[in-house]
Order: sequence, then structure tokens, then C-alpha cells
Amino acid sequence: MAIRNIRVYPDDVLEKPCKPVKEMTDKLRTLINDMFDTMYDADGVGLAAPQVGILKRLAIVDVTEDHSDPIVMINPEVIETSGEQRGFEGCLSVPEKAGIVTRPNYVKVRCFDSEMNEIEIEGEELLARALIHEIDHLNGHMYVEQAEDGILYDNDEVKEVMEREGLQ
Ligand code: NI
Repeated sequence: MAIRNIRVYPDDVLEKPCKPVKEMTDKLRTLINDMFDTMYDADGVGLAAPQVGILKRLAIVDVTEDHSDPIVMINPEVIETSGEQRGFEGCLSVPEKAGIVTRPNYVKVRCFDSEMNEIEIEGEELLARALIHEIDHLNGHMYVEQAEDGILYDNDEVKEVMEREGLQ
């Protein structure tokens, strides 16, 4: 296990666009493994390379509770979206906070996997939200820019606000 230090907002590295990955290397394989260790250790569902200080177009996602669906996205692009979901979103770089963000309910992503094979990934609901959130990071964007009314709630307020707003 190697846990990397997660950069916390506001940190300049989180606002910079990332450079495409040209080829898989041992260094990148180590980075990917470390990112999974770091994300699972922090109970997150996604992590982008800039969050550990690396400005490369690489992000990981796993929205399962038992860590059974690890997804690696290299040079990802959103190629299709549909529908809408309104709900709470958080980020490991914004600890203990969450905001209400409206996202597409479905997203299709084209990217390369850890073997640099071109693949397409489809996601709905939480997976769609996580995929798009991580790709935003690679473009230097954070969910806080899109949080409704610019409000970031403390985690312990979320349940109450969900009930009040009728959110799932
Ligand atoms: Ni994030």
C-alpha cells in the first residue's frame, strides 16, 4: 500500500488542465495502484491524478461498496450524455463538505484503459456523476463551481437538506 497525499481545495494544482498520457510506464502503473489505495483508504468513489499532484489525464472510479468495479480512465472524453440528476456531490479534495449539483443521468466516455486499449464506459446515476466529476478534474474544474447557490454544506447537514429538498 502506498497512500498519496490528497491535495485540498484551494490548491493551484487542482485548477490546471492536465496533459494527455502518451504511453503506459512503470511509473504510471505505480501511480494508478497508489491512487486506488489512496481512494479506498479515504472512502472515496473517484480520484483524479491532479488530486495527488500529477497533471496527467488519468482518473479512477469505483462506486461499489466492496471495491468490485475499479475503473481506470486515461485521456477520457465524454462522448454522450442524457437525462438529468440533481443530488449531493462531494470530493476528497474538499473534505467534510458536499454541495447540490445537477449532472446528466447517463454518460458515455471514450478513454484508454490501463493497458492503453481504447474503451467506452457507460454509466448511470452515481457512476455517471462520478465519471463526469473526475473528468472535470482533468480540465481543472471542481464541483464547487457548480454547487447550487454556491453553497457547500457540512457533511452533518446533508441528511437534513436531502429531506428538505426531497433528494434521494
Ligand atoms: Ni473530486
